[in-house]
Amino acid sequence: MSPHANSEAIDSYSPPPVKAAIPSRLYAIADTPKVSSLANICDRSVTTKNYPLASEVQKNIPIYNLAKYNSDKTAANNLQDEWYEVLANGPGVFVVQNMYSDQPLLDETNEAFHQIIEREKSHTKGDHFAAGGKNDRIWNSFSKHGLQDPSSFVKYYSNPWLARVCEAWLGQQYRVTAQTNIVKPGGAAQVSHRDYHLGFQTAEGCSRFPRGMQHASQFLTLQGAVAQSDMPLESGPTRFLPFSQKLDSGFMAYRLPEFDQYFNENWVSLPLRKGDGVFFNPALHHAAGNNTSQVDRSANLLQISSAFGKPMEQIDAIPLVKVCWPEIQQLYKAEGLSDRVETVIAAIGEGYPFPTNLDNRPPAPNGMAPANEQDVIREAITSNWDTEKIVSALTQMRVDGRP
Ligand SMILES: [Fe+2]
Repeated sequence: MSPHANSEAIDSYSPPPVKAAIPSRLYAIADTPKVSSLANICDRSVTTKNYPLASEVQKNIPIYNLAKYNSDKTAANNLQDEWYEVLANGPGVFVVQNMYSDQPLLDETNEAFHQIIEREKSHTKGDHFAAGGKNDRIWNSFSKHGLQDPSSFVKYYSNPWLARVCEAWLGQQYRVTAQTNIVKPGGAAQVSHRDYHLGFQTAEGCSRFPRGMQHASQFLTLQGAVAQSDMPLESGPTRFLPFSQKLDSGFMAYRLPEFDQYFNENWVSLPLRKGDGVFFNPALHHAAGNNTSQVDRSANLLQISSAFGKPMEQIDAIPLVKVCWPEIQQLYKAEGLSDRVETVIAAIGEGYPFPTNLDNRPPAPNGMAPANEQDVIREAITSNWDTEKIVSALTQMRVDGRP
């Protein structure tokens, strides 16, 4: 018996038929997905029969009342199975009521957020979707909360339900980050989108990532929010399109006007009480709603990252650029921005701009991602910067990116 006798993946593999064309690993931008595929995927419904631990399912969103459950690791195991199933194969979103039942703790946390916002008021920062200044946003509210008020921070982030939810989707060794978002009365709705990682790329950027990476992107992040205030429907709690994470080409599709239109005609949203949480697959099509109420809608947006995707060794581009710059310049002089020049830039510089400090390096009003080391090196080589100038630019970028 083969040692892999029980492995479905190995036993079920059949190679492509002889002479058949190997399918493209990429989604072509020109090959636009059909909105009818999304409609087919989303045309289904679930009930508590599908998710028996949910206290109810409203508008296809399972709701779990955590007051009924024990957060102990063993006791919560079955809940975690259900959450995983909801996120991977089901609606892609669930609500956890009473995730934070300690109301004074939420008030202390809100007070810490308030003090941070007041201190930061003098700066105007970019926001992914709102024009700067309309809403209150704390980038990296995780670190700032800890430094502002260690007492409420430790209580807030020692809530075992947070670990149970994160583990259900990401396993161990995840990294929690958070951003506070307070949408004032009159605040506008977001455009429908998918989230980090590929949700933060342009369609063209996405099209360079093979299908497997597009599928994997959803497993590398868990997206969530804790309601820091009551969120009645008229205050615009997040709108979701249940099951839309299952559209394979969704990271390519969500920006297309017909997909946005489908979203606008079919989204659902649930009111939340202060202390409730909502968690969703980052590939789910969603958008914050507009706030037509008289009260602020306040959320601590949790973005939790998988341990995977990190290299085994630390590479520091700056000393390498410093010593190699004359060689790279020579190659550029001989060949221009050739494949060889691009390849060595891609090898030496960091190509991904995250993680970063979004206060110092905010996304541009219409963009998602700040420049990365490779962008700067490419600009430097084509603009004939000397060693001192490129090293200083990379060093400044590094300093700005630190917490
Ligand atoms: Fe989002």
